[in-house]
Amino acid sequence: MRNSAGTHAGDEPATVGTPPAPVERHGYVLLSPDDFNAGALLGLRTPPPNILIEGDCLEVLSFIESNSVDLIFADPPYNLQLKTKDLRRPNNTLVDGVDDQWDQFTSFEEYDRFTERWLKECRRILSPTGSIWVIGSYHNIFRVGRLLQDTGYWILNDIVYAKKNPMPHFRGVRFTNAHETLIWAKKSEGARKITFNYRALKELNGGKQMRSDWWDLPICGGAERLRDANGNKLHSTQKPEALLERVLLATSGPGDLVLDPFAGTGTTGVVAQRMGRRWIMIEREAAYRELIEGRIARVADNGACERQ
Ligand SMILES: C[S@@+](CC[C@H](N)C(=O)[O-])C[C@H]1O[C@@H](n2cnc3c(N)ncnc32)[C@H](O)[C@@H]1O
Repeated sequence: MRNSAGTHAGDEPATVGTPPAPVERHGYVLLSPDDFNAGALLGLRTPPPNILIEGDCLEVLSFIESNSVDLIFADPPYNLQLKTKDLRRPNNTLVDGVDDQWDQFTSFEEYDRFTERWLKECRRILSPTGSIWVIGSYHNIFRVGRLLQDTGYWILNDIVYAKKNPMPHFRGVRFTNAHETLIWAKKSEGARKITFNYRALKELNGGKQMRSDWWDLPICGGAERLRDANGNKLHSTQKPEALLERVLLATSGPGDLVLDPFAGTGTTGVVAQRMGRRWIMIEREAAYRELIEGRIARVADNGACERQ
């Protein structure tokens, strides 16, 4: 991998002064924006260790080696276009919607430019036998699907992740929005031998072929959901670990390198660590990076590789 000074791992560093040593944590390396800007190496070892990077994925992805990642799981901004922060239920309580700054784009064109940039970089770093998953809602998934195809990926399936207890449509002028969609794609139409653990999935599904409509997964709640002392969610779109477990079981193997460019609370890395996969997670917000550190520490304390 290149470092942020533009050299490759193993090259003589072209930086002035010595870059600070990246911080070694519970089985992973943490790169802060300062480390990154000072030229801390991403490729410290081969194969790379687990790496948590606080930074903008549009910048960070360009430092990752081509064809080096086995699986990408991306849960990008939805571009929900929420116009009001004051959405209320009929009983006048406030709805906890996704109105975060990270989800704001000025236009579809801006969102498309952003999406195209990270999709292209992800395609470059994806191994020819690897695959990518992108999850989204009706607000963004059709744009993402088109851009996946336009940038050269080949779509393998779309999955409906159905929610058992979705939030009702309070004004009652539309259907209850009760699912999200995942698109699963490979690097190109000609890519062969894509990892797909058909038998493991069939076993999980009581001996029947796993279908593309997933009705049996929970939403993220209970002890798994990160909350503050007042019970408020610490991240608006934390995904359930069960969803990632299925994705990783289906399309990766032990030791594979899994990358999440929009890590949020770190669900992908937490599950990857537990399932014996290596991981790279990128998250722009320092507050979420801290949540990730806490979660990974708890997994490390409970022992990795609990489930395969
Ligand atoms: C939909 S959330 C991901 C939630 C995650 N799957 C989880 O289970 O917690 C998207 C995340 O991407 C982050 N983000 C948005 N734009 C980013 C960028 N350009 N680079 C890195 N992270 C970004 C946001 O801060 C947010 O935490």
